[in-house]
Amino acid sequence: MSRIVLGVSGGVAAYKAALLLRALTEAGHDVRVVPTPGALHFVGAATFEALSGNPVTTDVWSDVPEVAHVRIGQEADLVVVAPATADLLARAAAGRADDLLTATLLTAHCPVVFVPAMHTEMWLHPATQDNVATLRRRGSVVLPPAVGRLTGPDSGPGRLPEPADIAALAAVVLADGAAALPQDLTGRRVVISAGGTREPLDPVRYLGNRSSGKQGWALARIAAARGAEVVLVAANVELPAPFGVRVVPVGTAEELRAAVIAESADADVVVMAAAVADFRPASPAPTKLKKGAASEPSAVELVRTPDVLAELVAKRPSGQLVVGFAAETGDAEGDVLAHARAKLARKGCDLLVVNDVSAGQVFGRPDNAVVVLAPDGASTEVSHGSKDAVAAGIWAAVAARLSPRSGH
Ligand code: CTP
Repeated sequence: MSRIVLGVSGGVAAYKAALLLRALTEAGHDVRVVPTPGALHFVGAATFEALSGNPVTTDVWSDVPEVAHVRIGQEADLVVVAPATADLLARAAAGRADDLLTATLLTAHCPVVFVPAMHTEMWLHPATQDNVATLRRRGSVVLPPAVGRLTGPDSGPGRLPEPADIAALAAVVLADGAAALPQDLTGRRVVISAGGTREPLDPVRYLGNRSSGKQGWALARIAAARGAEVVLVAANVELPAPFGVRVVPVGTAEELRAAVIAESADADVVVMAAAVADFRPASPAPTKLKKGAASEPSAVELVRTPDVLAELVAKRPSGQLVVGFAAETGDAEGDVLAHARAKLARKGCDLLVVNDVSAGQVFGRPDNAVVVLAPDGASTEVSHGSKDAVAAGIWAAVAARLSPRSGH
């Protein structure tokens, strides 16, 4: 159990802080909510007290003998400020201490994550952007806001990411520190395939696989948190789109191929995390297959599907990194890593992320562990953790190999 301070500043998105609070307490953390006085115009202190089980104060004049403005910050393992308004970011950047939240920010030794939410004009204003740059330079994580519908009829960057996404990212920072989410992918285009393809047998049946898409979703969330523009080509995944991520839904291997090839032309990184079928029924029945009918099949003839990774590798523009995934099991011919090294050589991709799926370890599970292999022999172990923690480890390995951008 960790001690988390949830700072809430005065924007409409403060109502989502109650859901975030719920997600953090359900993950087993002790959460102390520190709202600004403005936040309490949107959500009452009673809501935060009931959901957190802890007292809620906004000023430094309550609990004076306890010196709350010093103690709360000092004792925290993580501070998350969601929503962080333009005013809160400005006061934090200036080092002010005019309420309990800003005082807490000055006494916290732990990682701090700001989750901005405001109108697009306020977010894009040079004053706000300077404040964000200042906070990042000092080591805080400032997430980019989601793009979408704002309070009124307008839309643009400025929305608070979904509480579940914030909670997942908070867990990564809690485990690995603020350095786990640098803004090093800002200005980069990333295409990620996720999920598992389905190849039709007839209009109602298909050949599929057990991929849940969760690792691909985590990769997209972390890339967006690190500043990338992310396209997620999703094969049969029902999960809600992470903030800042454009989802392109597909069904079959051929549809996935078309979408990935089209989206990746000007991408800096393409990550093939999807479980793509290697075979599909040669001629899917146009009508439902029926028992006892003259056309009742006794066998299914299969043909090969396109190898998307191979095509990406063959077509990759200079400077683009192509990352493959391999779910492997050891057997009499070699262990997991031996098979993976052979696959890396065969596929010709720039990095191969290897999952050991012996004994059904990974599919649909919340946890994962991988090794990232490079053709030069380098290997990075990303130890067991949540799929977000593993995604952060994978992106660290990928970012280290990105070629510098022209003009940088
Ligand atoms: N892949 C792909 N197109 C396919 C099959 C797989 O792009 N038709 C990609 C997967 O997304 C993954 C990588 O290739 O990134 C490795 O997938 P895997 O199924 O392990 O490889 P295979 O090519 O099937 O190799 P093998 O059958 O020899 O194990």
